[in-house]
Amino acid sequence: MLFLLHHPAVCKRIQDELDREVGKFRRPTLADKQRLPYTTAALMEVQRLNFIAPISVPHKALRTVNFRGYTIPEGTTVLANQWSIMMDEEKWPNPQQFDPSRFLDEFGNVKKNVAWIPFSVGKRSCPGEVLARQEIFLVLTALLQAFSFRSSDGEALPECVGKTGSLYVCPDFHVCAVPRF
Ligand code: HEM
Repeated sequence: MLFLLHHPAVCKRIQDELDREVGKFRRPTLADKQRLPYTTAALMEVQRLNFIAPISVPHKALRTVNFRGYTIPEGTTVLANQWSIMMDEEKWPNPQQFDPSRFLDEFGNVKKNVAWIPFSVGKRSCPGEVLARQEIFLVLTALLQAFSFRSSDGEALPECVGKTGSLYVCPDFHVCAVPRF
């Protein structure tokens, strides 16, 4: 929500897509996702820049391993800096920039990028990925279909910078929801 408030043009484009593909007489469903590539791309871009688990969860080396010249002894706690992958300039031109179009191909279809790993990778990647992605899509599309959002009167919007602990958490802010129809 904070990213969308900071980028009203992106928000408007999502609402245009929702109006065109879903209309206003029913709520968006998962069956609509295929026809909402810009919305999908924008949500992916939010998850790239707002990586809620930047160092994932602690893992432990089961045996001593050599990795790129470093010896990691058995039993060492390993924290993978996955944030660095989502901010890698070689994988993402201008990585700090909020740009949903990086997830779209020339035909406007959603384009995957193997460096997009908000749910981590491998055997211990997040088992809630499918559920989480579906919920994010359904909640955000239902809200954006029905409301326009703006910051609360007289209150400055916080920057899109989270508080970092083991999770990267959005700062508190107020928002006004104005019915669109
Ligand atoms: C936006 C939402 C979510 C994000 C970004 C997210 C991200 C992650 C990440 C990065 C990990 C660490 C994976 C690793 O160790 O390499 C993880 C682990 C895990 N997640 Fe999620 N998650 C989300 C939602 C959920 C939901 C909705 C559930 C359950 C319904 C869930 C259940 C779990 C569990 C059980 C683990 C531990 C898996 C293991 O250690 O084998 N997550 N998640």
